[in-house]
Amino acid sequence: MTIDRSRLASLMQREQERFVDDHPKSRALFERAGKSLLAGVPMNWMRKWAGAFPPFVREAKGAHFVDVDGHRYVDLCLGDTGAMTGHSPSATVKAVEEQARRGITLMLPVEDAAFVGEELQRRFHLPFWQFALTATDANRFSIRLARKITRRPKILVFNWCYHGTVDESFITLHEDGSASARRGNVGPPVDPSVTTKVVEFNDLRGLEKALLPRDVACVLAEPALTNVGIVHPEPGFHAGMRELTRKYGTLLVIDETHTICVGPGGYTRAENLDPDVLVFGKPIGGGVPGAAYGFTATVASLISADDNLEDCDVGGIGGTLAGNALSLAAMRATLTEVLTQSAFDRMIPMAERWTDGVQQAIAEFGLPWHVTRLGCRAEYLFVGRPVKNGAEAHHAMDFALERFLHLYCMNRGILLTPFHNMALMSPATSAEDIDHHSRVFREAAKELVG
Ligand SMILES: Cc1ncc(COP(=O)(O)O)c(C=O)c1O
Repeated sequence: MTIDRSRLASLMQREQERFVDDHPKSRALFERAGKSLLAGVPMNWMRKWAGAFPPFVREAKGAHFVDVDGHRYVDLCLGDTGAMTGHSPSATVKAVEEQARRGITLMLPVEDAAFVGEELQRRFHLPFWQFALTATDANRFSIRLARKITRRPKILVFNWCYHGTVDESFITLHEDGSASARRGNVGPPVDPSVTTKVVEFNDLRGLEKALLPRDVACVLAEPALTNVGIVHPEPGFHAGMRELTRKYGTLLVIDETHTICVGPGGYTRAENLDPDVLVFGKPIGGGVPGAAYGFTATVASLISADDNLEDCDVGGIGGTLAGNALSLAAMRATLTEVLTQSAFDRMIPMAERWTDGVQQAIAEFGLPWHVTRLGCRAEYLFVGRPVKNGAEAHHAMDFALERFLHLYCMNRGILLTPFHNMALMSPATSAEDIDHHSRVFREAAKELVG
């Protein structure tokens, strides 16, 4: 079953008109914002929403938000994982309200810092932690530390990964084995092939070849790719990657920012991985900016070995607001009261239900797509079978089709991420929310096949 492109274009036109008609207040705000904000949005990627403009939000709570035109949405985007806790979880809000009255940012530690460090130790089994404001920063700092410790210049990432706006990571591998700046890479400081090697996920042979010259400080990896659709590791991939990184003296940095969807200790604890460094951002503070990165005792002692007190504030690892009292209060409450095992016990069955609903429609209409799940995150890809690496997943992308499905959902009160086709569950997401998506997705599929 192939999708008729002229049908798709006319359905998209209809949905675009419906969106504009239904959102006059968002449209007015967008026009007003266009006079002070570049492209009318606070951040460049907000242009990517499938409507002519993004819906402006009035308020959000739990699994839902309401826009300024009064439409209520089931939020399956959840701030692309920043609000995986559900919007404004009560425990986090209470802690933030209380802390905001007692000081927001001090450049001094508070008791919550030690508490959160201990909680992260317990969850991830890594003994030493530091804080940053974003997962991007936590990744950047981990890379710097890896280069310092190993005295090696390069890092290695997997093709079509995303680790935030980390210069070294915006590189794409081509079929002929060459690599260059990723499409859309804005003003790269240097050609990323100077700083970075890139191989396909699940390619242990390629990984070994890249590590062999012993010039790679660290591998920066998500345990399953989540930013090009979901790409699962093949059996033995993680064990192989760990063995090879050890063999060639390369540190293994596991970025759990999205794969925390697997459980309270992320993919690392669920599958007993053994990273040298672990990064966790986005939902760690229930949406309040904050991130953490942790290391083994060996890495910690290497970091401290030639510590330079005089220059430690200008060494390229910083952030005036990092580890601030408000973030830490939010993290403490979120980790202890929101992102708990019992929350995952509710979220994961919802993702299974979502996957079943999508699968049924795919089968009913004979679409050459498939749906896959990782913990409380699920995603459909426009290819009939599971993919094994970033290139295969990227090849399956279909921007026009993706936008149509996103807009179709948005017009019927469901928000998916604006990038690929991801749905994330929060502790507040209900079976009713999921069944609403299943009905809407089925209707969209039916219209697409005619
Ligand atoms: C795996 C992963 N790591 C890091 C980041 C960066 O997070 P932030 O944009 O909050 O810095 C992202 C963002 O999508 C991500 O998906």
